[in-house]
Amino acid sequence: MLRSSAPVASDSPPVLQRILLVALRHLRVARGVNTLNPDALLAQLHWRYAVKKFDPARKIAPELWAALEQSLVLTPSSFGLQPWKFIVITDAAVKQKLVAVSWNQPQPAECSHHVVFAVRKALGENDVDRFLDSIVATRGGSKDALKGYRDMMTGFAGKAAEQGWLREWGVRQLYIALGNFMTSAAVLGVDTCPMEGISPEEYDRILGLEGTEFATVVACAAGYRAADDKHAQLAKVRFPATEIVRHV
Ligand SMILES: Cc1cc2nc3c(=O)[nH]c(=O)nc-3n(C[C@H](O)[C@H](O)[C@H](O)COP(=O)(O)O)c2cc1C
Repeated sequence: MLRSSAPVASDSPPVLQRILLVALRHLRVARGVNTLNPDALLAQLHWRYAVKKFDPARKIAPELWAALEQSLVLTPSSFGLQPWKFIVITDAAVKQKLVAVSWNQPQPAECSHHVVFAVRKALGENDVDRFLDSIVATRGGSKDALKGYRDMMTGFAGKAAEQGWLREWGVRQLYIALGNFMTSAAVLGVDTCPMEGISPEEYDRILGLEGTEFATVVACAAGYRAADDKHAQLAKVRFPATEIVRHV
């Protein structure tokens, strides 16, 4: 399938149809089923590809960006602990500096928003308490009632630190955020390129993360594909579902 067709967001149906669509959407929202249909979802997943060449002149509109930022915030994490920081870079000079420490890939400079996914390096009792404070502030109730949950989380974090896999656990949470972000972007007709081809240490230096609680793991460039990015025309290469999905 070609992937250069216009994304969902740019469709503009005639007025009456648009009114009916909006009414239908409100009905679905009211019933809690404001969903994409399977064909629309698959169309966007096929449309998405790892963009090699962004159009530097096209920027993500603020209202779209706000929704994408929320896709980061709303990412689920184990226990709900959110061991991360997302650094959104739009400053042209900083974006340009990141090219040299991204295996000279041009995406950080040419995209609209470059997102760095940074992991919390340590998880202390104070971090768990801050999370519990936020539960109480959001849902009410008392912190005392959450003592069992607190013990479970501090026990988990202590064991993970002692056995040396706390950071790896945090990294796993970050990759959920990366996937959530890319899929959300695709649904909104925004292009992305996930990027592991970076030097995390150099990113930390440029972004002033050295000596902080956070460290760079992975990045994702977001924006709009250049009209002449040949990768947009390539068919997806995937093993067949019959091979990689097993039904029991
Ligand atoms: C975690 C991760 C890191 C990646 N790093 C890079 C990268 O540094 N540069 C790049 O051009 N593509 C990168 N890719 C893109 C993959 O090569 C691409 O997703 C894969 O070949 C499948 O192609 P598609 O995304 O176009 O369907 C990365 C993908 C993932 C998931």
